Amino acid sequence: MADFEKKKKHDHDWSNKGEKRRRHGRNFDDGAEPRKEFLAVDNLVVEYTSGGAVVKAVNGVSFTLEKGETLGLVGETGAGKTTIAKSILRILPDPPAKVRGGHIWFNGRDILKAPEGKMLAIRGDKIAMIFQDPMTALNPTMTVGKQIQENIQLHSDCTRKEAEERMNEMLEMVGIPRVRAVEYPHQFSGGMKQRVVIAMALACNPEIILADEPTTALDVTIQAQVLDMMKDLREKLGTAMVLITHDLGVVAEMCDKVAVIYAGEIIESGSLEQIFHRPSHPYTNGLFGAIPSIDSEDESKRLSAIPGLPPDPTNLPVGCKFAPRCEFATDACRACIPENVEMEPGHFVRCNRFAAGAGKEAE
Ligand SMILES: Nc1ncnc2c1ncn2[C@@H]1O[C@H](COP(=O)(O)OP(=O)(O)OP(=O)(O)O)[C@@H](O)[C@H]1O
Ligand code: SF4
Ligand SMILES: [Mg+2]
Repeated sequence: MADFEKKKKHDHDWSNKGEKRRRHGRNFDDGAEPRKEFLAVDNLVVEYTSGGAVVKAVNGVSFTLEKGETLGLVGETGAGKTTIAKSILRILPDPPAKVRGGHIWFNGRDILKAPEGKMLAIRGDKIAMIFQDPMTALNPTMTVGKQIQENIQLHSDCTRKEAEERMNEMLEMVGIPRVRAVEYPHQFSGGMKQRVVIAMALACNPEIILADEPTTALDVTIQAQVLDMMKDLREKLGTAMVLITHDLGVVAEMCDKVAVIYAGEIIESGSLEQIFHRPSHPYTNGLFGAIPSIDSEDESKRLSAIPGLPPDPTNLPVGCKFAPRCEFATDACRACIPENVEMEPGHFVRCNRFAAGAGKEAE
């Protein structure tokens, strides 16, 4: 592994000259101070233009990630999870997508202002993504071995032989015998394809993995195997991870901290313990209430769905975006976006029930 590190091609220190040149072309250059965290997504705003309407997909999202940490990004379908991950890698299709504001600081540099040449070097090498659907991430006309090997050669000065050896090592690391390197994606089961995608993402020893629903398409037994494997690899390689999922069981097993996203906003965030033991936002509580419990004696309390549907992202509510579904909603909730309240160190909730002056209602 250490030898492979030495052979990596790129140094990722993009010059201030290039950065300054690009600044003039950006409409959200606010002269913000660079952030010190390993990764800091700061007030990210992303829209899509679709059929003449503007889809407000990500509405001021902020979070941080330190080396070796795993953050769970949890939320319903359409909440904006994949859009956030693609923004970090700068692979959003433009058009229809447009980043309207914010910063994504990686090692003190703003990815949103990096010259495209530097992004080519960062993608796959420093930051890699495991895509939601393994089939879309694999080329059906190429053997899996060749695909992983090409990725390695693209990002390092390895010889073909060295890249081939590393590809074989990676396949074995994810539990695929090296003899299968000559097979095509269609010859693999869903679980095996996902392992190939994970091997490809890890092949260049990235510092951050963006794992977008990595196990959703798999059946429960295979899901457990793939998660165990990802945990092992993460520990072995010290990789930081943003794990996108709607499955709170997966979060409990894998994550150090959690951000709950609703209609493109993080409405609650904190450590795994804070979110699982002291969930506070009505939506987070709703998510936990939607998990069946075999312990409950009262049948009617076993499962409670969150009423209603997420809002139309082309026509979001003015105030709290959860207000139409919230049993505690007041006129104030419908009038302005609630502030983000720190309930205890590191535990934030965007809800008026906990705002200063909310008084007894908050208890
Ligand atoms: N290419 C696109 N064009 C127009 N709208 C899009 C596009 N991609 C995503 N969207 C919209 O942006 C919003 C956020 O989508 P995104 O895929 O980021 O959500 P998600 O949380 O990953 O959902 P899921 O859990 O279903 O994967 C949704 O309303 C979606 O319909
Ligand atoms: S701000 Fe108001 S509407 Fe929104 S979640 Fe809190 S109580 Fe409910
Ligand atoms: Mg998605």
